[in-house]
Amino acid sequence: MAKQMLVKGMREDEYSIVLEFSFEKLLEQWNFLCRNNQKVCIVTDSNVGPLYSNEVSTVLKNHVKEISVFTFPAGEENKTLSTVESLYTYLITNKFERKDVLIALGGGVVGDLTGYTAATYLRGIDYIQIPTTLLSQVDSSIGGKTGVDFKKYKNMVGAFHMPKFVYMNLEVLESLDKRQFSSGMAEIIKHGLIRDPLFFQWILSNVKNILKRDKKTIEEMIYKSCLIKKEIVERDPTEQGERALLNFGHTIGHAIEKTKNFQMLHGECVALGSVAAAYISMERKLLKKEEYENIKYIFESFSLPICTRNISPEEIVEITKSDKKMEGGVVKFILLEKIGKAIIDKSVKEEEMLKGMKEILLYE
Ligand code: GLY
Repeated sequence: MAKQMLVKGMREDEYSIVLEFSFEKLLEQWNFLCRNNQKVCIVTDSNVGPLYSNEVSTVLKNHVKEISVFTFPAGEENKTLSTVESLYTYLITNKFERKDVLIALGGGVVGDLTGYTAATYLRGIDYIQIPTTLLSQVDSSIGGKTGVDFKKYKNMVGAFHMPKFVYMNLEVLESLDKRQFSSGMAEIIKHGLIRDPLFFQWILSNVKNILKRDKKTIEEMIYKSCLIKKEIVERDPTEQGERALLNFGHTIGHAIEKTKNFQMLHGECVALGSVAAAYISMERKLLKKEEYENIKYIFESFSLPICTRNISPEEIVEITKSDKKMEGGVVKFILLEKIGKAIIDKSVKEEEMLKGMKEILLYE
């Protein structure tokens, strides 16, 4: 039996998140929410398109007016306005109208870029998220944050635009490489850290089955993780307050991602950022030493880095100052009061950040 949940959007709207083990049931969602006079453009990248775009087209083709595929080269370096421009050109040339639909088939880059195009093309058209990485399933496909990077500033240009629905085929995780899978685990662990100590313990008790990618365990884990994200984004869809808690590990994580020129995966940088933020929390006598050690242990259990070489703590701190999470010139830093409870703190000083950075720095 598939799992499903409904997420409230920004107004009266709501959309469902559907967890399945094939693409077949996509048709049920389509027939329920869309119409056969709509044209569909599947937006995907050069990694995911060859694997799944035919399958998705086949499921829908007799139930839509027309279906086509727009593929762009995979990689964060293509999450740009220039790719959006090519997609606008494609949509205009192929006469896509306001009633038509985009499908984001891929990981976070595809989802964010497709969502942003959908938010802005003809002042907004519908889009469907079909996330194919663990990270995009538990995080970026939910909550309507869309956008692109701008001159290496991550997600600097964007819009809130909720999907029509989110459809996950968990079977695709079988083919995900180990590093990509671990990268998604970082966001899942983060959900436990900021909101749910029992979920954190559940992950710790299920490390073996998760690593084996046991289907039932993975389904339960993704469902629990999506529930946490759903509850947060429902209460604060446009990040006026509480949603910022989801940025735990991201202030320093994004800065590392940038200095490493996006050569490290997002989840790997979030793991490093989380360890640094947990260390700062411990130094402030919020988090206990034992909890801090447990946090490092859980990341290591999924082969995520807890320290790294070749970064300059000073440079990282400098980059955090240009982060989107600034407010009135101060960084909105997320700390942990304990495992399962995060807080927003605007008083974290440069010296504290430097100490946190030095904790995750490996010397030769
Ligand atoms: N990924 C953080 C958020 O959706 O707010």
